[in-house]
Amino acid sequence: MKRSLSGIQPSGTLHLGNYFGAMKQFIENQDKYEGFYFVADYHSLTSLTKPEVLRESTRNIILDYLALGLDPEKCTLFLQSDVPEHVELSWLLANVTPVGLMERGHSYKDKIAKGIFPNTGLLTYPILMAADILIYDSDVVPVGKDQKQHLEMARDIAMKFNQQYGVDFFKLPEPLIMENLAVVPGTDGQKMSKSYGNTINMFAPKNVLKKQVMSIVTDSTELEAPKNPDNNISQLYKLFVSEEKYQEMRNKFMAGGYGYGHAKKELLEAILEYFKEARERREELMKNPEYVDEVLRKGALKAREIARKKITKAKEIVGLMGNAYNK
Ligand code: ADP
Ligand code: TRP
Repeated sequence: MKRSLSGIQPSGTLHLGNYFGAMKQFIENQDKYEGFYFVADYHSLTSLTKPEVLRESTRNIILDYLALGLDPEKCTLFLQSDVPEHVELSWLLANVTPVGLMERGHSYKDKIAKGIFPNTGLLTYPILMAADILIYDSDVVPVGKDQKQHLEMARDIAMKFNQQYGVDFFKLPEPLIMENLAVVPGTDGQKMSKSYGNTINMFAPKNVLKKQVMSIVTDSTELEAPKNPDNNISQLYKLFVSEEKYQEMRNKFMAGGYGYGHAKKELLEAILEYFKEARERREELMKNPEYVDEVLRKGALKAREIARKKITKAKEIVGLMGNAYNK
C-alpha cells in the first residue's frame, strides 16, 4: 500500500479551508493509503511564542482530526515533537540545501513582505517539512495548493541528497492537490486563512458560527433585484450540497427576490448538517482525554520506529559513526 503523509500546524482553530483543502483528503483516503498524519508543532514555533497557546491549539487540532473521522485504527496519528528524528534529519538535509532555495520560498517572502521579522526557523521551515516527508518514504502528500512549492522543495532536497551521496535513498514524494477546489474563499472573498481573520470554523459554538456566516461580504444589490449567482455565499454553499441544490441557489439568485440573508441562513444550515456528527463526536472526545493521549502515544511509537531506521541509515550514508546507539 502506498504511504500518504501530511501535517497541519496547530496555529489556530480549524476552518473550512483547512478541511476542504487538506483534511477531507486525508479522511477520504484512509482506505486507499497507509496514512501518517501529524500535528506540525515544531513548525508552529516559527510563529507561535506563547506556550499555553501552542498546547491548547495542539490539543484542539487532534480533537478536530479525530472528530472529523480520522480513524486511529487505520492511520498513524502523532505529534511531530514526539518524533525528534524529524529534526535530526532536517540538519542532515540543511547541509545539502542551498540558502538560495530557501530564500526563494513564497511563504517566506510573503511573510517578509508583510513586515514580519523573520527568525531562522521561518527561513528553514521547508527543510524540516522535507524531513517530515522523507523520513517515512512517503509516496503522496495531500496538501492545499499553497503548499505546492514546499513539496517541490522537498523533492529538490531529496534529489540533492541522493546525488551528493550517490545513493537512491530518499523517495521523491508526489503532492496530492485537489485542483478543482484549489482555494476556499473566506468571508471577505479572499483565501480563507487564520491570518486574515476571515474564517468560518466548523467547530465553533453555534452562535459564533452564525456570526461568521452572517459576516460574509456581499454587494448592496436590493432584495428584489437579480444577483450574481457566483457570489461568496454560493461558492461556499457548493461545498456542502449536491450539484442540484447548488444550482437551485444560483437560480434563485438570478431570479431576484432572494436576499443574501436568506442564502446565508441556508448556508449555515448546510454547514451544521454537514458537520453534525463531527460536532457531536468532538464533544464526546473532549470528555475523554485519556483516550486521546493513548492515540497519540501509540501513533508516536509506530512513527518513531520507522523514523529511527531511516535516520540511522541516513547518518551512515553521510559518514556519521553513531556508535552509541542503534548497533
Ligand atoms: P491558514 O492559511 O489558515 O494559516 P494553514 O497554512 O495552516 O492555514 O493550512 C493548513 C492546510 O490547509 C494546508 O494544507 C493548506 O493548503 C490548507 N488550506 C488552508 N487554507 C485553505 C483555503 N482557503 N483553501 C484551500 N486549502 C487551504
Ligand atoms: N507546511 C504545512 C502547512 O502549513 C504543514 C506541514 C508541515 C506539512 N510538515 C508537513 C504538510 C509535511 C505536509 C507534509 O500546511
